[in-house]
Amino acid sequence: MGSGSGCIAALVLLFSSSLLVLIPYPAASLPLCTDSRSPLPQPTPLTFCPYNGTSCCNSTQDLRIRKQFEAMNVSDPSCRSVMKWILCAICDPFSGELFTIGTAPRTVPLLCNSTVSANSSQSSGSASDYCSIVWDTCLNASMFNSPFAPSLQGQAGLPMNSSSTKLTELWQSKNDFCNAFGGASLDESVCFDGEPVKLNATVAPAPPSGLCIERLGNGSYLDMVAHPDGSNRAFFSDQKGYIWLGTIPAQGSGATLEIDESNPFLDLTDEVHFDTEFGMMGIAFHPNFAKNGRLFASFNCDKSKWPGCSGRCSCNSDVNCDPSQLPSDNGAQPCQYQSVIAEYSANGTSSGPSAAKTASPAEVRRIFTMGLPFTAHHGGQILFGPGDGYLYFMMGDGGGTGGDPYNFSQNKKSMLGKIMRLDVDNSPSAAEVSKFSLWGNYSIPKDNPYTEDSELQPEIWTYGMRNPWRCSFDAARPNYFMCGDVGQDEYEEVDVITKGGNYGWRVYEGPLLYTPSQSPGGNTSAKSIDPIFPVTGYTHSEVNKNLGSASITGGYFYRGTTDPCMYGRYLYGDLYAENIWAAIENPENSGNFTSSHISFSCAKDSPIPCETVQGSQLPSLGYIFSFGQDNQKDIYLLTYKGVYRVVRPSRCGYTCAKENVTAVSTPSPTSAPSYASSLVYGRGSLFLAVASWLLLASLRVLL
Ligand SMILES: *[C@@H]1O[C@H](CO)[C@@H](O)[C@H](O)[C@H]1NC(C)=O
Ligand SMILES: *[C@@H]1O[C@H](CO)[C@@H](O)[C@H](O)[C@H]1NC(C)=O
Ligand SMILES: *[C@@H]1O[C@H](CO)[C@@H](O)[C@H](O)[C@H]1NC(C)=O
Ligand SMILES: *[C@@H]1O[C@H](CO)[C@@H](O)[C@H](O)[C@H]1NC(C)=O
Ligand SMILES: *[C@@H]1O[C@H](CO)[C@@H](O)[C@H](O)[C@H]1NC(C)=O
Ligand SMILES: *[C@@H]1O[C@H](CO)[C@@H](O)[C@H](O)[C@H]1NC(C)=O
Ligand SMILES: *[C@@H]1O[C@H](CO)[C@@H](O)[C@H](O)[C@H]1NC(C)=O
Ligand SMILES: *[C@@H]1O[C@H](CO)[C@@H](O)[C@H](O)[C@H]1NC(C)=O
Ligand SMILES: *[C@@H]1O[C@H](CO)[C@@H](O)[C@H](O)[C@H]1NC(C)=O
Ligand SMILES: *[C@@H]1O[C@H](CO)[C@@H](O)[C@H](O)[C@H]1NC(C)=O
Ligand SMILES: *[C@@H]1O[C@H](CO)[C@@H](O)[C@H](O)[C@H]1NC(C)=O
Ligand SMILES: *[C@@H]1O[C@H](CO)[C@@H](O)[C@H](O)[C@H]1NC(C)=O
Repeated sequence: MGSGSGCIAALVLLFSSSLLVLIPYPAASLPLCTDSRSPLPQPTPLTFCPYNGTSCCNSTQDLRIRKQFEAMNVSDPSCRSVMKWILCAICDPFSGELFTIGTAPRTVPLLCNSTVSANSSQSSGSASDYCSIVWDTCLNASMFNSPFAPSLQGQAGLPMNSSSTKLTELWQSKNDFCNAFGGASLDESVCFDGEPVKLNATVAPAPPSGLCIERLGNGSYLDMVAHPDGSNRAFFSDQKGYIWLGTIPAQGSGATLEIDESNPFLDLTDEVHFDTEFGMMGIAFHPNFAKNGRLFASFNCDKSKWPGCSGRCSCNSDVNCDPSQLPSDNGAQPCQYQSVIAEYSANGTSSGPSAAKTASPAEVRRIFTMGLPFTAHHGGQILFGPGDGYLYFMMGDGGGTGGDPYNFSQNKKSMLGKIMRLDVDNSPSAAEVSKFSLWGNYSIPKDNPYTEDSELQPEIWTYGMRNPWRCSFDAARPNYFMCGDVGQDEYEEVDVITKGGNYGWRVYEGPLLYTPSQSPGGNTSAKSIDPIFPVTGYTHSEVNKNLGSASITGGYFYRGTTDPCMYGRYLYGDLYAENIWAAIENPENSGNFTSSHISFSCAKDSPIPCETVQGSQLPSLGYIFSFGQDNQKDIYLLTYKGVYRVVRPSRCGYTCAKENVTAVSTPSPTSAPSYASSLVYGRGSLFLAVASWLLLASLRVLL
């Protein structure tokens, strides 16, 4: 306990030429422990520390704190109770913030200080100057191993001083003491006031009346990435293997997305294997792309068609899987299809990568290659962490007959059903190469969770995923890493991804126990794991009684200025049902999310008219493949029928009191159709016509 660790969440990358400089940024508090992991519900109640329920301590740690406390032999009864609370604060679900993630680990939590508590969003009660209370109460008390010893500041671990000391022997004055121990977390949202951290519950604002969208383009894309140079441009990629560079028109300009499909930025269609669930699944641009021109594509390939498509099979003896015993899936050989991350370069032009209109199709470096056991569930999104500069790679359970038959997601040696975290700025050291059985050319970040759980493959960041379909980092709070994880039969989940987390599949489907029908790869018992349950989501029956399918498409926290009523809500949707939800977190930073269905309609003055659902005014999008975000933090829907952008609510006749309606002339309001009628069933013919080349992330007919 007690020793913090450098956390991705509290660091942001600045780039000066080729050098990475890490500086702390004001991160908002998410419930996290000092080891950057999620607090977990404790099966055994704690007997000493008053943190029953979800806690950063288990019974072993609770016992250790009790022993530490007893060994201190605090002389004064009032100070004794204060000291117990201070030692136990390490069990608080916000201990990561209280002991300040990212800066030097502390022996004492941040004690609420009069100078900061006025601005704190924490409910302050009477103990607003807790630091003074601690000083006044413990001033004359003596104790062994005082955690307040000045020599311990900035040191990890337990105090080592064996002589009994009084506070007055350690600190000259209350001011000195509170200078050292008083304060609040970087964003001033939490400090310790002698009780478990409670965030102010507020009355959650009512959900917005609707989401107004305009159609900017006709293309079907799977991924969109804002140009890292901060301009009004973005890259769009499709499933076949093209990447285009498009220019985004200003909000309200009436112009369309400028994208020249006949001149792709990069054409990888010769390498990419394109089929129902295969293709180019994601693209990522190095955070320093504007200078170094490094870009990455994540795609599937076919070993029988391309010599570059060869990697180890994910079904192998390390994971108790024999490829020769794998049942045939759609006539494919096991590991005939592979998942690849490859690096390319747009560094060719003399004017620099920002001016580049194309990139070289020559592969610069192969980052990762892995053979897939079956033809479904291989996620494939890649994202650079805004806080740490590492590449996150989302991988599904590999599919098969459904229910993850080989139990890959729970297998800590398997790369299936995982989110991986790779360092693509450094080649692996000789030591890494000999120690780890790496899947490619990357090195392992020093704080990946295998360092604490030696059973984990070193690449793994989280496990127990089924098919993470679209993850994002909150632009305002980069320690909020959100993923939609596609469900099996009943539940589509939204997860907050944290270090080393086990998100439960296939022991659980969302919050529900799941009973697999087949277990050739063995089973994992519910008792043996500490699952992290989704923060929100929806049941299949909620969206889709007729189609018989649902598949989540994770989106973004809305951080744009265009629709102020949407600000701070996490937007996500369903691939098939064309439903959109907005989840609000209340209190802010608490991890307590509540989702609402959001009705949506198309602006009357949309640059490209939206198609409408037969017999209604509602826009028909086809499938919602992904969401996107531009450099203005405006949000996009990437759908079968094109690229749609979230616009001012008044353009659809929605009311948002916070909208600046004086800024632009408002088109005549249209009636805002209700959500209920926006559910579209019976699109059978369209469905069949396009199914052969659509991404059907979890279509149950395939399983
Ligand atoms: C935790 O819960 C257990 C059982 O419910 C109870 O005996 C114990 O007193 C509680 N501990 C604290 C510190 O609240
Ligand atoms: C408590 O957590 C520690 C460290 O995470 C672990 O080693 C220990 O086994 C856990 N104890 C129990 C009872 O779960
Ligand atoms: C603990 O403190 C009490 C009185 O404050 C004292 O009598 C006792 O000897 C101390 N125990 C140790 C181990 O120092
Ligand atoms: C508290 O808020 C006030 C007004 O918003 C501001 O002037 C002051 O600097 C804040 N204090 C701290 C410690 O941030
Ligand atoms: C939190 O609650 C306290 C006490 O009710 C109140 O004084 C304070 O203004 C609240 N802070 C915020 C940010 O709402
Ligand atoms: C601490 O000791 C000083 C001097 O002996 C005394 O004046 C003061 O009242 C004591 N304070 C407390 C809180 O016991
Ligand atoms: C231990 O406590 C004594 C007495 O207060 C102090 O002089 C000494 O510096 C402390 N040693 C450490 C390692 O903190
Ligand atoms: C805490 O309060 C003391 C005394 O009022 C002040 O000197 C100190 O700067 C404060 N510390 C922080 C971190 O705000
Ligand atoms: C989009 O499609 C519509 C309808 O087919 C067509 O009228 C329009 O020209 C297209 N717009 C663009 C920008 O391709
Ligand atoms: C980019 O190109 C320049 C000039 O050709 C070269 O000096 C530089 O090393 C290249 N950078 C990278 C990251 O490839
Ligand atoms: C969670 O959010 C809901 C909806 O805003 C609210 O009613 C509830 O009180 C919150 N729960 C907690 C524990 O704050
Ligand atoms: C509203 O928009 C107008 C025109 O762009 C601008 O002058 C004004 O400052 C804006 N008001 C607010 C509250 O943003």
